[in-house]
Amino acid sequence: MITRVLLTAACAALCMAAQAKDVAVSTPASTLLLSANEGRPLTFRYYGSRLASNADAVQAGAFWQDAYPAFGNGNIGDAALIVRYPDGNMSADLALTADKQERDGNATVFTFTMKDKLYPLYVDVCYKAWDDCDIIETWTNIRWQGKKPMKLLRYLSASLPVRRGDTWWLHQHGSWGAEAETTIEPVTEGIKEVRDVNFPKNAVLNRPNIMLGLDGRPQENSGTVVGAVLCWAGNFRITVDTPDKRRHLLQAGICEDAAEYNLAPGATLATPHLALAYSREGMGGVSRAYHRWARAHGALHNGMAMRDILLNSWEGVYLNVSQKGMETMMDGEKEFGGELFVMDDGWFASAKYNRNRDNAALGDWTTDKAKLPQGVPALQAAAEQRGLKWGIWIEPEMTNTTSELYEKHPDWIVCHPTREPIKGRGGTQVILDMSNPRVQDFVFSVVDNIMTETPKTHYIKWDCNAEMRNFGSHYLTADRQSHLTVDYHLGLIKTMERIRAKYPKLVIQDCASGGGRVNYGLLPYFDEFWVSDNTDAEQRLFIQWGTGLFFPSNAMAQHVSASPNHQTGRALPLKFRFDVAFTGRLGMEMKPSDLSPQELQFAKEAVATYKRLRPTIQLGDLYRVLSPYDNKGYCSQLAVEQDKSHAVFFAYKFRQYINMMTPRFRFAGLDPAKTYRLAELNKPAGAKPASWEGKAFSGRFLMDEGIELSLPGVWDSKVIEATAN
Ligand code: GLA
Repeated sequence: MITRVLLTAACAALCMAAQAKDVAVSTPASTLLLSANEGRPLTFRYYGSRLASNADAVQAGAFWQDAYPAFGNGNIGDAALIVRYPDGNMSADLALTADKQERDGNATVFTFTMKDKLYPLYVDVCYKAWDDCDIIETWTNIRWQGKKPMKLLRYLSASLPVRRGDTWWLHQHGSWGAEAETTIEPVTEGIKEVRDVNFPKNAVLNRPNIMLGLDGRPQENSGTVVGAVLCWAGNFRITVDTPDKRRHLLQAGICEDAAEYNLAPGATLATPHLALAYSREGMGGVSRAYHRWARAHGALHNGMAMRDILLNSWEGVYLNVSQKGMETMMDGEKEFGGELFVMDDGWFASAKYNRNRDNAALGDWTTDKAKLPQGVPALQAAAEQRGLKWGIWIEPEMTNTTSELYEKHPDWIVCHPTREPIKGRGGTQVILDMSNPRVQDFVFSVVDNIMTETPKTHYIKWDCNAEMRNFGSHYLTADRQSHLTVDYHLGLIKTMERIRAKYPKLVIQDCASGGGRVNYGLLPYFDEFWVSDNTDAEQRLFIQWGTGLFFPSNAMAQHVSASPNHQTGRALPLKFRFDVAFTGRLGMEMKPSDLSPQELQFAKEAVATYKRLRPTIQLGDLYRVLSPYDNKGYCSQLAVEQDKSHAVFFAYKFRQYINMMTPRFRFAGLDPAKTYRLAELNKPAGAKPASWEGKAFSGRFLMDEGIELSLPGVWDSKVIEATAN
């Protein structure tokens, strides 16, 4: 009897497979194959290298798993969606009712609509496949047409079976000043999860991005690697479960802890996009796919634009801004060749509160006339006179309980009305409640007022220095308190969309005590991010390496700061500091007057060199070679122009001990058939030319054999330009 039942089930699956309508969602090198049959759940079959024929995947043996498993009627442990209908029923039974494909720019969007067989709940499972990079975005629109509200208890973005094998995962964690620490480890039995509820900064302790190495420990430039990036700035979780012998299950989305979401009749919740990348060129291939997508397809605001070299006032003067001090810094900046001057925190005040310490006046965004008697327009004009663009710091989602804003609107902050606010930075900082439309209007007005007073403002540094300590909203009704973390971010995005509609060209930096908000949920509205408050070049090697795994170089703000470094106390040579900052958007964060004449000369030349290399560094492809995480004390990488005519190679040494192995330095990403001439840049005065200086080599030799580099001391570094003949 049992045998008969099993055979019948197997036969049903085979018959189903025979009549199945398979839909291939393909990018240039990958395919995600689905089976879309009316009256049945949408079924996931395969995600891997691009299929010439769907039959290849099906005949070789493919998955037969729900593409978006709903809880309670067949799916229990695997559920991506858990609902509670108005009658209390927690089981959902989704079946396909329609599917369509539409072109959207350089992509095709596939929408598969499922409906609960008994309730008016509709779920569109969407996939967006790009024509020119191996990224597939997936998300759902959950729509409720019932007469009474229903509840979403879990509403993940995606659920993806992955063939079990020698699978490894890369995930990122860290702290203030040590963001994007990267761990690569085997996926063993049990549930692996990266989860962050450190709202509204979701990229300090954990990051919403992982990679999966499918052929053992992932390598830089070979092997099959899948990337998964959740485009969301709020609480999230990404889970890799191993429920059986053949399968891992990758799921990702908004973390449902304390975030039950009500859908009113007629309401829709669109879940954040999960951007999947697929590469057979290792982790490097996955990184390059994300970089290309970010730059070319709107995942990063104005992503194809190159960014200016700036001087930021923070580590130079901290809160002690003054007209004279700013002008002196601008003079220094002009001398070394910078392009944009940014006045950081400390410039604002109100009648009652000033910003001499970091414990007051956030929210009171009027100029402190005691510090800047001629106002901000005079400073903007002073920058202009020196040929510099102008930028300014704000932290618009925050306030201090010591501010006129808070005194006027104590109900605008994140905190339940019954509770006393728990305060952050300075013992007074609290978060404005972005779920409240009046707060959204206020935050919009902070930018709008700046742009009205100083219309030539080119750049805004948008900071966010608090974590949520109280849970609750004065604005949200009792039954919607659990919407807070989701509605905050939807409110923030709505506000950013308003800002972008009015100020599309304004360059906006995403900063959150450093890299606390480095995520693709916000980057469609931001041009770059502050990688870390830690500007120590040695630690930056690790922070930038980790960050660059998912984010492109033109978005990464990397500043040369003073020595000894203000965060770690470490003294590092200026050349090393420049060479480390060179791989992203170069800037400086110190008083130029603290540079010696020789150092100023070096800075001037380095800045001129950077300007020449900027297209390759900011828009080229990143090829990593030696990882700082390999514990060898070296690290190297290249930026390569897409036509492979030009590349910049970077090598750093950051450990020193007797009998230390010196590696041979191999290049990557070049055209093996091209010949490249090498030239060392950022050379210390009087340095002797190396044997390879000015000589030509085949791309193949440089990649297979590499060159010898002399890096005798700790914190020695090299920047080498490779130009094809
Ligand atoms: C945060 C930022 C810093 C600086 C200060 C100003 O810590 O990360 O770069 O802007 O705020 O208060």
